[in-house]
Amino acid sequence: MTKKRDFFSISSLSLEEAKHVLAVAAKMKAAPKGSQLGLLPGRAVAIVMEKASTRTRVSFEVGAAQLGAQPVVLGVQGSQLGRGEPIKDTARVLSRYCDLIVYRTFEHSKLIEMASAEAPVINALTDDGHPVQVLCDVFTIFETLGSIHGRRVAWVGDGSSNMARSFVEAARIFDFHLSMAAPEGFRPPADEIAAAGKHLSITADPREAVKECTVVNTDVWTSMGQEAESKRRLEAFAGYAVTEDLCAKAAKDAIVLHCLPAHRGEEIDDATIEGRRSRVWDQAENRLHVQKALMAFLLGVA
Ligand code: CP
Ligand code: NVA
Repeated sequence: MTKKRDFFSISSLSLEEAKHVLAVAAKMKAAPKGSQLGLLPGRAVAIVMEKASTRTRVSFEVGAAQLGAQPVVLGVQGSQLGRGEPIKDTARVLSRYCDLIVYRTFEHSKLIEMASAEAPVINALTDDGHPVQVLCDVFTIFETLGSIHGRRVAWVGDGSSNMARSFVEAARIFDFHLSMAAPEGFRPPADEIAAAGKHLSITADPREAVKECTVVNTDVWTSMGQEAESKRRLEAFAGYAVTEDLCAKAAKDAIVLHCLPAHRGEEIDDATIEGRRSRVWDQAENRLHVQKALMAFLLGVA
């Protein structure tokens, strides 16, 4: 029996495998609707959400159906997870019904526990990373700019967030430079900064960070689970908003990304998210195509 393949972080794939998944995604995006129904017939995908989700839930659910698989969505409320059934027991049972588990949770250790059973597990966001989103964002950069290798990509805002941390990992793997503007106290963990080496620079000055960048990227200042800190965070991130004025300091024709949901008027303003640089709606659509390719790859049919 071949070993199951989980997707915990971007480095769960080799660079070649990641590029292969992105190439399959491009083909899937270009193909007519309904043409991939024969890829995963008779299979089932469990989508377990312990935090709110719109894009991730819908794109995995629709994506699984478009591959011919049956998606099953479970929340904490309404499942036995909410009544304290151990994750490892849930994982064992889900593995008897389903061929793949997509899991959004808090601590990364819970994701690892979910992967203790037979079915492969995809990280659909933990407190430590959001690798499917960032893999999809790399696809959007390839699609829009033709390449990512050697580029300067800016990260402005919460450098300690799950999104920022997955971007730090992606910089090393896809060989681009992540130019981060983040206040002291809101930066990636020291070991992740060290692992990124020359692929990461950090400043407290957003104008400095976006210089020569062809991508300007941000995310909310208060991630899910941090709501009690939101006042302190609003104060800490004052001056870190992605605006037209800030983007004018980036490379000419720089694009703007945001994984969404956005808090317009906080980390990004209305004019920028609606403006000519914004690729956020294509970015959201690409979740569907890339995650379909990832599911097909992990299940050995792409
Ligand atoms: N970007 C993202 O993961 O969105 P959702 O929280 O809506 O899934
Ligand atoms: N950093 C955000 C991402 C949401 C998709 C959060 O964790 O809430």
